[in-house]
Amino acid sequence: GGQQQAGQAKVLRAAGEATFAPFEFQDEKTNELTGFDVDLIKAIGKQMGYEVQYQNQSFDGLIPALDSGNIDIAISGMTITSERAQKVNFSKPYYKSGLTILVKKDDDSIKGFKDLAGKNIAVQIGTTGSMEAKKIPDAKVREFNSAAEAIMELKAGGVDAVVNDMPVNEYYLVQSGGQEAKSVGERLTSEDYGIATAKKNTELNEKINKALDELKQNGEYEKIYVKWFGV
Ligand code: ARG
Repeated sequence: GGQQQAGQAKVLRAAGEATFAPFEFQDEKTNELTGFDVDLIKAIGKQMGYEVQYQNQSFDGLIPALDSGNIDIAISGMTITSERAQKVNFSKPYYKSGLTILVKKDDDSIKGFKDLAGKNIAVQIGTTGSMEAKKIPDAKVREFNSAAEAIMELKAGGVDAVVNDMPVNEYYLVQSGGQEAKSVGERLTSEDYGIATAKKNTELNEKINKALDELKQNGEYEKIYVKWFGV
């Protein structure tokens, strides 16, 4: 495994694309990376006797970084897909998610996925949102490095819609006061987030699963969940 020693503490290097609130993002006051995923992986590490260092990494660079051993763990609101599961090991699901659509507040032409045909859509590169948007007939899909940038493009009027993970869309609407955008339609997909580790490091995956079980049993997972998502 790629685990390093730093002083006495055993260190695990975790990463995610950290403009994905409330899962991983920069705290404006402390400048530290924070969020549900960051708290969860730190708690998992602690349970395993490790200190976890969390760093920012482009979303499409996460799996290559696991492969090359530059990081030990990717936790980044990453959906467990069969395609990704051929390249990495996934932990048990730790969060239930799915995709929704954001449109401009004053747009009444888009009420659900079927209305996206032929529209300009912004997505984050390498995501399930991007994969689903590309299935929409005649849609022009533009890929951005982050979901935050995709949403900015919607606000700027450059696209008609954003296809992105529901909890991130909802968090954005609450944080921004919902003045500029709104969510429309039903949730398109049902997706499970998993913690990814290198294919060859099955031992680390097993330890993460064990720690995740323990945190669910001792109430720690629940505490972190409530901190970020309320009851
Ligand atoms: N759940 C989606 C996927 O796995 C999007 C994840 C994006 N995560 C992020 N931290 N930007 O494709």
